[in-house]
Amino acid sequence: MGERIFIGVAWPYANGSLHLGQIAGAYLPPDIFARYHRAKGNEVLMVSGSDQHGTPITIKAEQEGKKPADIAGRYHQEFLESWQKLGISFDLYTSTETANHAEVTHDIFLTLLKKGYIYRDVTSQPFCPRCQRFLPDRYVDGTCPHCKFPGARGDQCDQCGKPLNPIELVEPRCHLCGTAPQFKDSEHFFFKLSAFRDSLLSWVRQQSHWRPNVLNFTLQYLEEGLKDRAITRDIDWGIPVPVDGYQTKRIYVWFEAVIGYLSATKEWAKSTGDADRWRPFWQGDTKSYYFIGKDNIPFHTIIWPAMLMGYGGLNLPYDVPANEFLTLEGKKLSTSRNWAVWLPDYLSRYEPDPLRYVLSINMPETADTDFSWREFVRRNNNELVATYGNLVHRVLTFVYRNFDGCVPKHSKYEIIHRYLDDLSTDMSADYVDLDEPSLNMIEDAKSFFQNVDDNLSKCQFKQAVMWAMHLAQETNQYLDKKSPWKVIKEDRQDAVDSLYVALYVISCLRTMLYPFLPFSSQKLHQYLGFSGRVEDYGWQITWPAPGQEMMPPEPLFPKLDESIIDEETSRLGQVP
Ligand code: MF3
Ligand code: ZN
Repeated sequence: MGERIFIGVAWPYANGSLHLGQIAGAYLPPDIFARYHRAKGNEVLMVSGSDQHGTPITIKAEQEGKKPADIAGRYHQEFLESWQKLGISFDLYTSTETANHAEVTHDIFLTLLKKGYIYRDVTSQPFCPRCQRFLPDRYVDGTCPHCKFPGARGDQCDQCGKPLNPIELVEPRCHLCGTAPQFKDSEHFFFKLSAFRDSLLSWVRQQSHWRPNVLNFTLQYLEEGLKDRAITRDIDWGIPVPVDGYQTKRIYVWFEAVIGYLSATKEWAKSTGDADRWRPFWQGDTKSYYFIGKDNIPFHTIIWPAMLMGYGGLNLPYDVPANEFLTLEGKKLSTSRNWAVWLPDYLSRYEPDPLRYVLSINMPETADTDFSWREFVRRNNNELVATYGNLVHRVLTFVYRNFDGCVPKHSKYEIIHRYLDDLSTDMSADYVDLDEPSLNMIEDAKSFFQNVDDNLSKCQFKQAVMWAMHLAQETNQYLDKKSPWKVIKEDRQDAVDSLYVALYVISCLRTMLYPFLPFSSQKLHQYLGFSGRVEDYGWQITWPAPGQEMMPPEPLFPKLDESIIDEETSRLGQVP
């Protein structure tokens, strides 16, 4: 029996198109991970949805003179389309606007209330005397009390990443009109985060497998002490508070958005016809992974775990492999200044796999990384096309033409097969009796496959894809040395032998690269003459069987013209 893996993916605000920073940070990594585990035969559930509440949505709606629901609905549709085109394979992508989500949120709220982890208190909420309204956290600008960053907002500081309350800001100002807000008393519900400090500390201290940036940030945060947090707001867009007398208030977006992981699982379970299927993922033996950008760390390593502890009986995160940021052409991304590459734009002009490749091999796992169009074109042309695509194409077309479209048979097929596949034999390499370059080649394919497996299991995506490309490079060198295209004229079987070794490695690459490049791996799978889907063959090296009928191969990736570098960079920063 395989493992059970829950994959929670950060819920994007449905207030604008997705950009490459979000894809590299939070959306591509879980998809790679999910595809890998599914191929391994593990039971995977990957869920997320659109975050439809909160000020990011209401600000946008106010700007456009629309209703929040219209804005959120529009981008939700766009996100669904983007996932499909980019191949982000959610088992369920829902939204926070469903009745199910409100119901699950109410259950958690009321249970925490009953257990005394939620209490009422009067708090000072920012009220703008000029706009005559209570201001949501994000509508208050000011200076961060921790790091003195002058551009902090009332919910969080973008410089040091700490969550804030508006009242903690130094020199607060209304985001809409610049007036200093007054702080007026208002009754709200609070989550007793402070009660969980000790349990959180001892739990977090056991997570030595977390990435150092995630672990250190979380520990430092906990060591500084935790403040209780208001979890209702004086606003009218959001989930109602399930208590009488609170009709004019709503549940705070961050409190309910994280509950989406659980509510989405329940929604998924209902859709399968077995409403109890959420249980094994939350109450059974399951590893839960949360894929997020670094600005979301405290919500996933502190607040959500505290809510889960308070509720009781539900699995805590196993890992939270948060990524650092992606910069664009050397500068910080800015959606308002249009310093961003928008995913729908990208997908309207280019194929998904080159982007998946470039973002994987340059993933901001342990440090910020940069995306530039020059680098995109270079990696596409020199690595995807020239190294991997070209290897595949020259081998497949040559074999297809010279062997009636069928996989030819290596002279030592049976013995190599046994040597590589049967772990129980301690057959020595001498016995296989292959020339040294061929023996090295097949042994490297096998050991690189192990390396990729090991990296993927630890969420080390960048290193994993590097191993695969390294293998492709080595195979090109092998073929240059063996030169089957020339040898075939004198010794047909000798040419077959090296071509077969190359086909074997290509077949490995198809599987190794499948989590990263699902579209081209599927094509390659068919060219090699396999049927069905790549993942149906499992996470293992599948041999092309001698005699297997191939399909006429086409190049896997198009070469990109250098002119797109200028064309694309000139679009950046233009505010329409
Ligand atoms: N919508 C938030 C953001 O884009 C992320 C929410 S993650 C969740 O930063 F888990 F809270 F949903
Ligand atoms: Zn700060």
